[in-house]
Amino acid sequence: MTKTICFANNKGGSGKSTACANLGYALAKAGKKILLLDGDMQLNLSLSFFEEEEVLSLASEEKNLYEALRKQSDLAECVIPTRYENIDLVRSTMLMSQIEYELFTKMQRELVLKKCLKQLKEAGKYDYILIDAPPTLGTWVINILCASDYCIIPVEASPWGLFGLANMFDFLKGLDEMTEAEVMGVLITKVDERKNYYRQTTEILKDYENIRLFNTVIHVDSAVEWAQDRSLPVAEFKKSARSAKEFAELAEEVKSYGSRKRKHGKSK
Ligand SMILES: Nc1ncnc2c1ncn2[C@@H]1O[C@H](COP(=O)(O)OP(=O)(O)OP(=O)(O)O)[C@@H](O)[C@H]1O
Ligand SMILES: [Mg+2]
Repeated sequence: MTKTICFANNKGGSGKSTACANLGYALAKAGKKILLLDGDMQLNLSLSFFEEEEVLSLASEEKNLYEALRKQSDLAECVIPTRYENIDLVRSTMLMSQIEYELFTKMQRELVLKKCLKQLKEAGKYDYILIDAPPTLGTWVINILCASDYCIIPVEASPWGLFGLANMFDFLKGLDEMTEAEVMGVLITKVDERKNYYRQTTEILKDYENIRLFNTVIHVDSAVEWAQDRSLPVAEFKKSARSAKEFAELAEEVKSYGSRKRKHGKSK
């Protein structure tokens, strides 16, 4: 059965696109079939697999995420292969900047993506569909959550990171009736253990009821930026990179995550 996982957090720069791309790569290396969906007009997920010129050329193709949503048609026709076995991508476009406006006029506007993904999910070709969400909390992100079985929330161990996380959980709580998406876990990213603040943040997070932290954390690693500069997953840029190993560990955690239903975290 195809599982859909989105990466969402209203806080910008928390590591959503980096986690989505590199977890996707690690799951594919572990033998899983992956479909990536770039839901952000910044096209950072696409840029993790294709070079800038290729991304711009893909974005100008007629069949893309935005057009499929607009016409409420099957997303299968927007799927293209990447250079890696077992990793495909839904062609996206900068036009996604207008998606809120486009959704506004639709019936059941929060379920448009779910309907466009229905056939792809039912075909069962992919083990995982991974969706990169933009740093917003509008109708489009609600669509992403409604189309997802699970949500991973990447968070940077910083004061504003924690503030953003609290907002994110409040937002999810408000959607309780609308989406089945289960928070698979909070992923702490860009960890720098020299900073005392990281330790304090982790302690605070551990103290929350019902917030599941992944055992794996992703350390700050310059290989991540070098890899992104070359449109490569970090493990392709440098196999021995610390973050590459961490994403492989994260893939194991995700693979072994059970189907047990868990509701959104609530603070004590
Ligand atoms: N482990 C890491 N080590 C070093 N740099 C990192 C790491 N993870 C992410 N970054 C850098 O941090 C920045 C933000 O990461 P990313 O784009 O993945 O976040 P995001 O949550 O997707 O951002 P946005 O909210 O804008 O979509 C990027 O410049 C990326 O290169
Ligand atoms: Mg992003």
